[in-house]
Amino acid sequence: MKLLVTGGAGFIGTNFIKYWLEKYPADDIVNFDKLTYAGNLENLKDVEDNPHYKFIKGDVVDPDDVRIAIQEVDTIVHFAAESHVDRSILSPAAFIKSNVLGTQVLLDAAIENKIKRFHHISTDEVFGSLNLDSKSKFDENTPYDPHSPYSASKAGSDHLVRAYFHTYGLPITISNCSNNFGPYHFPEKLIPLAITNLLEGKKIPVYGDGKYVRDWLYVDDHCRAIDLILNKGVIGETYLIGGMTDGISNLSIIELICGIMSKDFDRSIESVKDRPGHDRRYSVDWSKIKKDLGWQPAHDFKQWLQKTIEWYTNNQTWWRRVKSGEYQEYYQKQYADRK
Ligand code: NAD
Ligand code: DAU
Repeated sequence: MKLLVTGGAGFIGTNFIKYWLEKYPADDIVNFDKLTYAGNLENLKDVEDNPHYKFIKGDVVDPDDVRIAIQEVDTIVHFAAESHVDRSILSPAAFIKSNVLGTQVLLDAAIENKIKRFHHISTDEVFGSLNLDSKSKFDENTPYDPHSPYSASKAGSDHLVRAYFHTYGLPITISNCSNNFGPYHFPEKLIPLAITNLLEGKKIPVYGDGKYVRDWLYVDDHCRAIDLILNKGVIGETYLIGGMTDGISNLSIIELICGIMSKDFDRSIESVKDRPGHDRRYSVDWSKIKKDLGWQPAHDFKQWLQKTIEWYTNNQTWWRRVKSGEYQEYYQKQYADRK
């Protein structure tokens, strides 16, 4: 395959590119990324000299940028998006531009270039919130009910992708995944924020009562699911991807992290004002992708949480540069004469 990976310098995109180049060394990847605050080319230093890998800096919202990047590819895996819920509450406009308008620009280019597959990466947040006291789960038939500007923008992009399938026959697939964790996760999100704050001797901010529930999945399991969808998925179909954490609360996760890092739980947390519109619980029924494509999560949460903590402990230069903003200089130094 010749893949265009949008947003490949972000958390999941980085992990996906490394996964793909290792598993399919003869395939070609173009990483197309705007390098927002969340895009970090240092993540991909180990593949930048690989002849099957190329980086192009550009914005999915800009049709001229997209036109350059899309040449010579047959498959698009569309990760690029503004991804942080709290930022979307402070400043929604960038989310509508990149996530909705950017997806439409990319879809138009996909049609023009007769792309063989457009795989859209989406989120379980489009389905809204589940009650804490119920056992219900999201599945492929759950109605959309997004509650944050982020999830509303992702819902908009999902609808556009499906509309391009029905209206223009674009060969699409969509996956809606639950919360990922693992290496290169930007330290504004709960798990890497908690780990790096503890390593810095800071407290972990807990929103509201901390009894919010997410369905955590190790990032490699997500990459493997996308691989199966690209190779065996049915055109026009949506697949939900989720983890094995079965109702674990934010407070319980923080308690686990404190335990692994030998920190006193009560002294390590601080209660802060809740996130407006905070979804109470997410839980994903992944039986369709299991039945149709043979996927299921393979990485145990506690074991891989420990490995993730080890990764952040052993890669302090990476996250300290990210937290200080220094990593943004890398592109200038590394790519200034490579345009
Ligand atoms: P991230 O914020 O770490 O990375 C996003 C990447 O997209 C960055 O490299 C950024 O520079 C790039 N980008 C942003 N706007 C762009 C634009 N206009 N043009 C080109 N590039 C742009 O995000 P992530 O956590 O890796 O998420 C990737 C995708 O997966 C997103 O679409 C997100 O909605 C989805 N998703 C994430 C999770 C999760 O738990 N992180 C779960 C389900 C789905
Ligand atoms: O469900 C998939 C989604 O997961 C993705 O689509 C998003 O891109 C990704 O950011 C993530 O969204 P969340 O809002 O669930 O992740 P976040 O890490 O921001 O928050 C996880 C939970 O932790 C949530 O209940 C809010 C809470 N939280 C978060 C932060 C940053 C805190 O209590 N304190 C914090 O400081």
